[in-house]
Amino acid sequence: MRRTLVAANWKMNGNKETVASLLTAFKNGMSGSADVAIFPPALYVPQVAQALAGTDISFGVQNVSAQESGAFTGELSLSMVNDFACKYVLIGHSERRELFGETDADVAQKVVATLKAGLIPMLCIGETLEQRESGITEEVVGTQIKAVLDAVGIAAFETIVIAYEPVWAIGTGKTASPEQAQDVHAFIRGMLEAEDAAVAAKTRILYGGSVKAASAEALFGQPDIDGGLVGGASLLADEFVAICNAAKG
Ligand code: PGA
Repeated sequence: MRRTLVAANWKMNGNKETVASLLTAFKNGMSGSADVAIFPPALYVPQVAQALAGTDISFGVQNVSAQESGAFTGELSLSMVNDFACKYVLIGHSERRELFGETDADVAQKVVATLKAGLIPMLCIGETLEQRESGITEEVVGTQIKAVLDAVGIAAFETIVIAYEPVWAIGTGKTASPEQAQDVHAFIRGMLEAEDAAVAAKTRILYGGSVKAASAEALFGQPDIDGGLVGGASLLADEFVAICNAAKG
C-alpha cells in the first residue's frame, strides 16, 4: 500500500563529473521496485533535472527558505525550486538543526511554505546518542513531529514524507538495528494514528543513518519502514543502486 521510497542525500559533495556519472549509473541500474529521489547540492539541480528528464527518478533540494523573496542573502526560495521542477524538499536534517541552528519552529515554517508551494516536504527527525541513552527518544521525536503537526494538521501527512534519522547513526557506520528503527517508526505512526488512522496508514516513514546495501533489505522488511534516506552510500553508484533494488515495491 505504501510504495517504498529511497532518497539520496548527497550533502555538500560532488562536482559536474560525479553528478553525471552517478546519474548515468542510477538510470541504468534501477529495477523500478522503489520510488527514487535525489537531493543534490542546489547548484547541480539544473544538471540533475536535465539528466533525469523522461525518467521516473525525482529530485529536490536539501534546504529552502520559508520566505517568499527579498533580502535573504544566500537563501533559495520555493518559487526558485519550483522553477526547476523539483518534487521534494528536505527539511530539518540534523546537520541543519545542529550546525545551522534550525529550530522546530523554523522547520515547521518551512514545511508550511513547502506544502503551499505544491512540493513534498521530507521532514527529518531523530534523537542524539545522549538523548537515546537518557531514554527520551520518543519524547524528542514526538516533540519534533508535534511542532509540524500543530502547524499543518494531520491531513498534510498524506503528502509529507518523514525521515527518522537517529543522529548517532548518521555518517558513523552505526546503523540502527531493524528492530530499533521499527520501534521508533511504530511510535511515530502511532502518533499519527491517534489523529487519523487513514492518514497514518498512508504516511511514508523512511529510515536514515548509515544505510548500506547489506542492511537495506532487513530495514525495508520492517512493517513500518517505508524506505531510506541515504547519505554516504548514495555517492557510490553500485551501493545506492543495490539499496534501491532491495525494495520489494
Ligand atoms: P549517512 O547519512 O547515510 O551517511 O549516515 C544519512 C543522512 O544524513 O541523511
